[in-house]
Amino acid sequence: MTEVVHTPRVFSGIQPSGGLTLGNYLGALKRFAEAQNQGGMETIYCMVDQHAITVWQDPDKLRHATRELAAGFIASGVDPEKSILFNQSQVPGHAQLGWIFNCVARMGWMQRMTQWKDKAGKNQQNASLGLFAYPALMAADILLYHATHVPVGEDQKQHVELTRDIAIKFNHDYGVDFFPVPEPVIEGAGTRVMSLRDGTKKMSKSDPSDMSRINLTDDADTISKKIRKAKTDPEPLPDTAEGLADRPEARNLVNIYAALIDKTPDQAMPELAGMQFGQFKPMLADLAVDRLAPISTEMARLMQDPAEIDRILGRGANRANEIAAPILARTYDIVGMVSSR
Ligand code: TYM
Repeated sequence: MTEVVHTPRVFSGIQPSGGLTLGNYLGALKRFAEAQNQGGMETIYCMVDQHAITVWQDPDKLRHATRELAAGFIASGVDPEKSILFNQSQVPGHAQLGWIFNCVARMGWMQRMTQWKDKAGKNQQNASLGLFAYPALMAADILLYHATHVPVGEDQKQHVELTRDIAIKFNHDYGVDFFPVPEPVIEGAGTRVMSLRDGTKKMSKSDPSDMSRINLTDDADTISKKIRKAKTDPEPLPDTAEGLADRPEARNLVNIYAALIDKTPDQAMPELAGMQFGQFKPMLADLAVDRLAPISTEMARLMQDPAEIDRILGRGANRANEIAAPILARTYDIVGMVSSR
């Protein structure tokens, strides 16, 4: 069998489950815009509304969150002319390929997913079947476009690895070299932004404490207050990033600082070494406000014209479908489904 060389292509997605955090911005949105601006690879970004409904979503809130997420993408620098920006449910191939991958993935693979275990908790019997099958749909999202690069935060690494397993098993079972085996791209200081109240927990929109996170819709005063009140320790900042190893809260704030100025923590340390938090926190707060306030202003402006957002998503879905349709048709063919063509 000859090796098929796949054209490099970027795909990633975010759930419109209400509220974008600084974690989504540094771990995903900012990097999506960078991948787009680097050029050389087609960039496809998706609002995964079908993933969102694996847990209950109020319909009106889901619609609002999808438009707000689209506004968040654009305000963060994703240009719907340069990238393909759309919502998942408008391209039927995601669900169609997702079904085929449900038949490729194994129960045991799904049971090992840490996010499934965390989200279903002790009451697995009452979780939706969709929540269990979710990583197979994520594999379909990626492979429907033959994407080769998947920029994500740390917490999605296991799901991209499962996507690789699904691609390999499909190719093996059907004796083809059809799906690429995509790479997770997890680079930079912002791929694991932690809670501002507990440096061992991920910053998340589902944390009950609003003080634990910065929302992309927070105003300047709120951003400053949350950073000033962030949990820290009494020591000054060390000389090197290594010195932060056992100081999760301090490390998190330094990582946020470094990610906002596009440096590694090591590169950022010389200017921070020896600083007390009383000095570092206001500096970080000013930087965060400077970078995030224009995004929330632009999101609010875009949200004043939801019909325009819907038009952008509709155009994006048409473009996505043009790439997806032949890949899905070929998949059906490989699997042995009779078509009327
Ligand atoms: P979601 O919606 O939970 O998060 C979207 C993106 O934001 C990143 N992220 C973070 N990065 C750094 N620090 C944090 N605290 C933080 N919180 C979230 C996530 O890693 C992710 O990159 N299953 C995915 C959505 C998805 C997807 C896909 C992603 C569906 N299909 C195909 C890539 C490719 C999810 O629930 O992400």
